[in-house]
Amino acid sequence: MPSDEGGRADALFLRAARRQPTPVTPVWLMRQAGRYLPEYRALRSRYAFLELCRTPEAAAEVTLQPVDRLGVDAAILFADILLILEPLGRGLEFGKGEGPVIHRPVRSEADVKALPAIDVDAAVPFVFETVRLVTRALAGRVPLIGFAGAPFTVASYLVEGGPSRDYLHTKRLMYASPGAWTRLMEILASATARYLNGQIAAGADAVQVFDSWIGVLSPDDYRTFVLPHMRALIAAVTPGTPVIHFGTGTAALLGLMREAGGDVIGLDWRVDLDAAWDLVGHDVGVQGNLDPAVLLAPPAVIRERVKAILERAAGRPGHIFNLGHGVHRETPVDHVRAMVDLVHELSARG
Ligand code: CP3
Repeated sequence: MPSDEGGRADALFLRAARRQPTPVTPVWLMRQAGRYLPEYRALRSRYAFLELCRTPEAAAEVTLQPVDRLGVDAAILFADILLILEPLGRGLEFGKGEGPVIHRPVRSEADVKALPAIDVDAAVPFVFETVRLVTRALAGRVPLIGFAGAPFTVASYLVEGGPSRDYLHTKRLMYASPGAWTRLMEILASATARYLNGQIAAGADAVQVFDSWIGVLSPDDYRTFVLPHMRALIAAVTPGTPVIHFGTGTAALLGLMREAGGDVIGLDWRVDLDAAWDLVGHDVGVQGNLDPAVLLAPPAVIRERVKAILERAAGRPGHIFNLGHGVHRETPVDHVRAMVDLVHELSARG
């Protein structure tokens, strides 16, 4: 049953766009700026990743590149979820190709106790400046989505020291030192709230919280070790700004994520969009959920898969088309453009 409530997230999103509701399903992509784009690679060849983030003119350019090239309905800030960790002095580095590294990971209760406070405004003024530059350049053409990592996902990098398969160091700290875990979550949740609210004050129209690796937890552990901190974080976001709450591997966690908050719940491709929407409730919006690997297939296959997702959304307001996770580096740009055009074409209504 289509519900008016379902439209609330859509209306919020579109109000944020400062324009009339579009007659089509809005679409934007996670990691729509990145190495699959030749113009990104060209700029990136002149800067190390962190340097690019710290140079507002260049970061603004990267943010804007996909908007024209792909015809998406939102820009997503070019920055990173780990930038707020720099003032902790644990040796954050973005190595070539293998993703981020933290040279001195936080593994013990004593490590957590020794963490200094994070002064977000002093740490990432360049991010807020990038938001100002992008907002000015967009002039309301499409909304700008700001973002941050969720405390669990950011903690997983800080504790593991980089990407992980089993998250054993993170889980050991959580289970063996619950007091230290709580303290760590509180430090990260409060810094993250400031990070998001700084982006909003600088002009971001909506924000997305990435809990990319939360799917490694059981529902009981999510409830105990994560939910209170997510709830506090989302509640601390400047009122009136739509929050998109995203994770992967979350089929068993969607109800709890919804409890934690967010105007829109981000879905990965491992769930059926209609069943997931019924589960989280039609008084929130959903975003998703094409498998990004589908973009490697020929356009005819992409068309079938896009159609299937739009059929599950059934024209209800409150659906934002997106991938279930980020664009892969190997993705042909033409396929991405074709997908965006298809969503607009197939969802056009009255
Ligand atoms: O359009 C966009 O979405 C780009 C903005 C963006 C980046 N990182 C830029 C980036 C966003 C939204 C992020 C979030 C982010 N960063 C997440 C959550 C999103 C997700 O995909 O789950 C995570 C887990 C990180 C941490 C991080 N930063 C990783 C794992 C990596 C390596 C990624 C890779 O493909 O190697 C980074 C570096 C990074 N962040 C790149 C980009 C474009 C690649 C850096 C490069 O050019 O070498």
